[in-house]
Amino acid sequence: MAIKIIEQQQPSVGLSRVAVSDTHGEDSPYFAGWKAYDQDPYDELSNPTGVIQMGLAENQVSFDLLEKYLEEHPEATNNGSSTTASGFRENALFQDYHGLQSFRKAMASFMEQIRGGRAKFSPDRIVITAGATAANELLTFILADPGDALLIPTPYYPGFDRDLRWRTGVNIVPVHCDSSNNFEITPQALDSAYKEAESKNMRVRGVLITNPSNPLGATIKRAVLEQVLEFATSKNIHLVSDEIYSGSAFSSGEFVSIAEILEARNYKDSERVHIVYSLSKDLGLPGFRVGTIYSYNDKVVTTARRMSSFTLISSQTQQLLASMLSDRKFTEMYIRTNRQRLRQRYQMIVDGLKKAGIQCLEGNAGLFCWMNLSPLLEEPNREQELGLWELILHEVKLNISPGSSCHCSEPGWFRVCFANMSEQTLEVALARIHHFMERRRVH
Ligand SMILES: Cc1ncc(COP(=O)(O)O)c(C=O)c1O
Repeated sequence: MAIKIIEQQQPSVGLSRVAVSDTHGEDSPYFAGWKAYDQDPYDELSNPTGVIQMGLAENQVSFDLLEKYLEEHPEATNNGSSTTASGFRENALFQDYHGLQSFRKAMASFMEQIRGGRAKFSPDRIVITAGATAANELLTFILADPGDALLIPTPYYPGFDRDLRWRTGVNIVPVHCDSSNNFEITPQALDSAYKEAESKNMRVRGVLITNPSNPLGATIKRAVLEQVLEFATSKNIHLVSDEIYSGSAFSSGEFVSIAEILEARNYKDSERVHIVYSLSKDLGLPGFRVGTIYSYNDKVVTTARRMSSFTLISSQTQQLLASMLSDRKFTEMYIRTNRQRLRQRYQMIVDGLKKAGIQCLEGNAGLFCWMNLSPLLEEPNREQELGLWELILHEVKLNISPGSSCHCSEPGWFRVCFANMSEQTLEVALARIHHFMERRRVH
């Protein structure tokens, strides 16, 4: 007989501080927009007036390539199914936290390929985790203690508030960047964030960058990366580079990994550098939960491996991806085609927005563009930005993410995703924006 749990108005049993804390950040408009979409999702045929989801950084433009590969290579999936008993047993039995050697090898070689072969990765330094979410949290547990601080340039991915702060008790101190220099990170901004943390008696343990940037959709220049590394070295703190969007850079030459910078410096100061990667964006597989930490610090690798017990990837998934990622012909074709398609999509959205009279930050990567609606605000403040966001969500029926949910200090900017829908749906979204702008002009 099923056990019935009677819902109580007021839970009489206490919960942990983590459970009741609101540092998960899920009460932000970023997540509220997702809920509004869930309640009224757009569908070309069954709900053509529904909300179009433009707040989810998902890559669906190259699914056909993955599906074709799987059709042509049934052995990649059969390994883990009942068709081969030995394969089934291999997957079903205990796996230790090192993960499959074949998978780590394939992942290291894919990470090199995405960087145009300009950086080397050793399978021995790859720690596997359930997505970049787990990788970022796990690294924070290793690098910082509760009450310590991580510096993060703004605007940043809203999920970081949950991933880095909630369970670890670590604080995020924003490094404020603005449109005066296209939101580039400067030594002055880093310095002032560091001083702010000090003034609050927080010990700064690291700086975390996302390259290419979410939500800006732009790669970080080599010179800026060098400055960030210099800053981390001068303060004796860690540098985490979340490179989850590296395969989305429209032109491979425009993406410089921190791994390349270290290689050029003969790995000087590399023990403070850690790279986070995942297949959620580049292969469009967030549901597979495949991430990695690549650290140049032996102690961090060992500790992260131990901790990864909490967030492993199933052997079946590792088998499948080991097979797919070690097929060089396929991965080369995939990376090239995926980039071309993202570039076309990007062009389609920025051209469409331009026709509607809207400017975007010039981008060269990512699954989104950074749109400037500040001319529509009567006063440049957060309340007005959120008012505009509500209007666009409920009247134009588009879920986009307000800059303030990414901790952007300059009101009026919005992140707009373009790769999680078909071209037809993107056309509908652009037509809605066009109408909205026309109506505003008339009024
Ligand atoms: C910068 C950044 N890091 C991490 C993540 C989480 O990725 P995953 O699905 O691999 O956990 C995201 C997802 O949007 C992201 O944008």
